[in-house]
Amino acid sequence: MDTAPEFIRMTPGCGALVRGIDLAQPLDKAATEQLTNALADHGVLFFRDQQLTHEQHKSLGRCFGELHLHPAWPRLVDGHPEIMELYTDENSKRIAGEDWHSDVTCDREPPLGTILRMIEVPPVGGDTLFANMYAAFESLSSPMQRFLEGLTALHDGENAYRGRYADASEEGKTYPRSEHPVIRKHPVSSRKALFVNRIFTTRIIELTPQESDSTLRMLFEHIAKPEFQCRFQWQAGSVAFWDNRCVQHYALWDYYPNRRRGLRVTIKGDVPY
Ligand code: SIN
Repeated sequence: MDTAPEFIRMTPGCGALVRGIDLAQPLDKAATEQLTNALADHGVLFFRDQQLTHEQHKSLGRCFGELHLHPAWPRLVDGHPEIMELYTDENSKRIAGEDWHSDVTCDREPPLGTILRMIEVPPVGGDTLFANMYAAFESLSSPMQRFLEGLTALHDGENAYRGRYADASEEGKTYPRSEHPVIRKHPVSSRKALFVNRIFTTRIIELTPQESDSTLRMLFEHIAKPEFQCRFQWQAGSVAFWDNRCVQHYALWDYYPNRRRGLRVTIKGDVPY
């Protein structure tokens, strides 16, 4: 990289638009480190006008870690099992990620991050919302923070995937489930982040079912506060790189029956602590 990239904060909540990087070019060590730190800081990085081949998309992901293979997604790009195709049209019954979540938290080692590049956008709509989970944690009262820091929660792939993908055979299929701390520490920033989400988290282990339901309901409402958010309006050629350890996202399906198509690689993470 010849000149330093520019990071323009999207909202006080989270997100930065990055200018001055061509993601199709190999990232050197300094650029990888700069993006790693910016990602941990802003939670999600946005890039415009990027043209990447499948190989370049995968190489970009591999700068940050090994690529993840999704346990359930039925639409993979031919010859590239690491690339998920997110495709929606007038025949779609549902879309991926239409509620607050971070990706595949049912895995024992949930993904570090996800790089989605948009190929086709509807005439209007199809934005993705992101929410800052550091801010969600930090804005809770101290007694509530202390209470949550001692707890672990179940993240269940059954809840997220069973019956969702009509084009996938589910006979004999089992989905991952894992227990993770309700508050996790980010390995790069060392900041604490709230780590429960509507799509995967089904209960808090140490609480009674009623206490667990009430606590999760309160947290899911809290997570969705607009103050923590930014909203990205895609164009063909836009790329978003989000950090699943400190942001959640929500894909809006307000563009039916129009088409939207994106390609996603996901980067393996480690066991939350
Ligand atoms: C997802 O990966 O959860 C979907 C994101 C999107 O389509 O905007």
